[in-house]
Amino acid sequence: MFNTQGKKVIVNDILTSNYISYLTWFGNMDVDQLKIHKKIDELNSLEGISGYVERNFGDRYFSIENARKIDAIREKIESYNDLNIREKAFLLTSLLYAMDKVANTVGHFDAYRRKMDNIKSILLRMPEVNNNNNIGNEIFNTDANKLVREFKADLVYIDTPYNSRGYESAYHVLENVIEWSKPEVEGIAMKAVNRSEKSSDYTKSKAPEAFEDLIKNINARYILVSYNNMAKKGNSRSNAKISNEEILSILKNEVKLRCFQLISMHLPPVSQK
Ligand SMILES: C[S@@+](CC[C@H](N)C(=O)[O-])C[C@H]1O[C@@H](n2cnc3c(N)ncnc32)[C@H](O)[C@@H]1O
Repeated sequence: MFNTQGKKVIVNDILTSNYISYLTWFGNMDVDQLKIHKKIDELNSLEGISGYVERNFGDRYFSIENARKIDAIREKIESYNDLNIREKAFLLTSLLYAMDKVANTVGHFDAYRRKMDNIKSILLRMPEVNNNNNIGNEIFNTDANKLVREFKADLVYIDTPYNSRGYESAYHVLENVIEWSKPEVEGIAMKAVNRSEKSSDYTKSKAPEAFEDLIKNINARYILVSYNNMAKKGNSRSNAKISNEEILSILKNEVKLRCFQLISMHLPPVSQK
């Protein structure tokens, strides 16, 4: 919302796949839109090939046909030598969203559906970006607790992970294809063997200390905190790592506090008649 108003925004996430899409949506490096359009057409017309995605994620997270196309598209993007960093990010973001659309999952990649039905052919689309809104923006791919020490802002919005389910693990397939270092994978879910390098302090028992350190080092007029607590609806891995009381007491020490509670509503099913 602030970006569409032309305000300067600083965006950060530790995952490469999120960083790449933020570079696309909020970055300000020049992009030759016509060149990217042509490349997207070229990528969409490629024949599938046998490779890392087919071997590890084919007939699991993607149909074999889509996995082979993702292999061809990803290799082709890597082979282009006439793209700046943001133009490459445009193509990767397009692939990221297209993969998510045809993934054989219920959203995250902790598991895939046994039955592979309703899977369409993967199709890359041109990200729609208004560069005029992005002047002065800054995009980072680092630990928020380190980055926060370097900035002063009018408003800081934070939505750190809530529970022990790390994003590097829940979205491992997307991260894997975007980074393209082709790591060894393991288990039924085919997660990278050494993915723990990226696991966040906010998913561990030290989450309250990490949160306190972050809040203490924010230099801003306003801090907007979003945190989700599934209460008794999930299993133990879904339980919030920081209790409401801990959040409130950490915040109360640093700021004047106002709280808003968002409760999801369960509406009755719509009649089929
Ligand atoms: C609740 S999600 C919010 C994602 C995004 N802001 C959005 O609204 O869709 C939490 C995000 O925090 C990122 N993250 C976890 N630990 C982090 C850290 N120490 N520094 C920066 N980002 C982190 C995760 O990769 C994840 O994308």
